[in-house]
Amino acid sequence: MNKIHFENIDSTNAHLKKHYENYDNQTFVSADYQSDGRGRNTRNWKSEKAKNLLFSLLLKNNLVHYQALSIITAYTIIKVLEKYNLKDLMIKWPNDVYVKDFKICGILLEGVSIDKLICLIIGVGLNVNQIEFDEQYLIKPTSMKLQLDKEIDIEQLKEGIYSSLLENINKLNNGYSFYEEIKKYDYLIDKEVYVVINNKKEKVKVIGINEDYSLRIILNDTELDINSGEISFHI
Ligand code: BTN
Repeated sequence: MNKIHFENIDSTNAHLKKHYENYDNQTFVSADYQSDGRGRNTRNWKSEKAKNLLFSLLLKNNLVHYQALSIITAYTIIKVLEKYNLKDLMIKWPNDVYVKDFKICGILLEGVSIDKLICLIIGVGLNVNQIEFDEQYLIKPTSMKLQLDKEIDIEQLKEGIYSSLLENINKLNNGYSFYEEIKKYDYLIDKEVYVVINNKKEKVKVIGINEDYSLRIILNDTELDINSGEISFHI
């Protein structure tokens, strides 16, 4: 397993986007602190130093499954967290892990393409031992410590997540379907949410996750499948 760790960095995703040529396929980059951590949709990802697990994984081969990678990563995190006895874990399609209605982990999938896709970077921010968060979040954050009431060994957790993630990505590449397992954790199923389609915010009803990991929704009485997109909640 190729892995490197920084005490301080701008962003593990940004680092791999910039230096992917210098690293092998399946290299993990982690950090105690990110000065410019990135979230989805140009949001930033703030995390207290050495309190949480922040890492990115570089993929240079088998890039055909990118639709599935966020959700397989979310599923992998859930299976590891269940070993710590965390309950009520759900996947908010396509890439968040929730505990009940609280967000415990965010995933940011980014690609580098020059004419064609050259590499993919899966960035994971998992809240581990942080117990205070900014009030700004629409979806309230939680952490393993808040849920379990004890301090977690981040190194041990990281090892478990790294090896499970590689194992599941290799299974995906070999044609294994995670669908039956994943649909048990579908947070959005039957919910009414807002989704941005072609830059327009639409209120839709979610039917559920499909076998190809897209999401089936009903928009104005018509069923359609979406592959990615920002889902925000009906308030
Ligand atoms: C989200 O908006 O929910 C996605 C958050 C992803 C954060 C992680 S932390 C490690 C990696 N490096 C980054 O800059 N972002 C991702």
